[in-house]
Amino acid sequence: MTDDYDAADDSRKSYDVCIAAMGEKLRSFRREQIGDATLYLGDCREILPLLPKVDAVVTDPPYGIDYGNKGSFQASHGWRDLRENLTWDTERPPPEIITALLACSEDQIIWGGNYFSDMLPPTMQWLIWDKGQFDFSLADFEMAWSSQEKAARRIVYGRGRAVQDGKVHPTQKPVEVMKWCIEQLPDKCKTVLDPFMGSGTTGVACAALGKHFTGIEREPKYFDIACKRIDDAYRQPRLFKDEAPKAKQEALAL
Ligand SMILES: C[S@@+](CC[C@H](N)C(=O)[O-])C[C@H]1O[C@@H](n2cnc3c(N)ncnc32)[C@H](O)[C@@H]1O
Repeated sequence: MTDDYDAADDSRKSYDVCIAAMGEKLRSFRREQIGDATLYLGDCREILPLLPKVDAVVTDPPYGIDYGNKGSFQASHGWRDLRENLTWDTERPPPEIITALLACSEDQIIWGGNYFSDMLPPTMQWLIWDKGQFDFSLADFEMAWSSQEKAARRIVYGRGRAVQDGKVHPTQKPVEVMKWCIEQLPDKCKTVLDPFMGSGTTGVACAALGKHFTGIEREPKYFDIACKRIDDAYRQPRLFKDEAPKAKQEALAL
């Protein structure tokens, strides 16, 4: 090593080269900017490490239920037309993705967390979407793991509405449910990431709530649907909080 070797300068140059390479890799993915929403088409395992930190991850990953192989049950419950689209739900998210989600944000809300609670730390807060005797559904309620040390909460929302309101994704969440769960986050939460965006419901909710949103989706068909829904959401006049139709929320008695 020569006397004029400057370790700090060397590491700064390496850092710059690394940042430039990451930027170039990120630009290789299709990206759409719609209002305050930035949407990437691609595999979140490749894109997540290239993104800056966000305030919160709010997501609904594949649960690994493999509905696609439960044909007769789905047919009897009205899933026949959507079954072919569930090929992505054969596997749970790998542990390294869960670790990345916990590392890239201050707070996290992960729907279906009960399917992979072995990969998540113990928590005080679970968020429950009670479907109100929603007779089409496979379950009476769905659960989201939340990183917050706060009381568990429940929203009652359903009675057939979720399916009838133009469902375009086989596991689409109602916008009202996603808005409600985002509202459980601290007010200072301004940036939200959903790396398993599907039809973009989290992004639609963020547009309504005035939050910055980053979404990732691997399937081009759902990516295009998400772009359209989020674009439509930005064209809607935003309601003041008091005018918004209220879904019912209840604290859970544990
Ligand atoms: C449970 S769905 C999300 C549905 C969404 N909450 C909605 O309301 O439309 C999960 C989505 O993750 C996508 N997905 C699965 N693996 C992925 C990956 N590695 N990277 C990005 N997207 C992925 C699937 O294509 C699917 O659309």
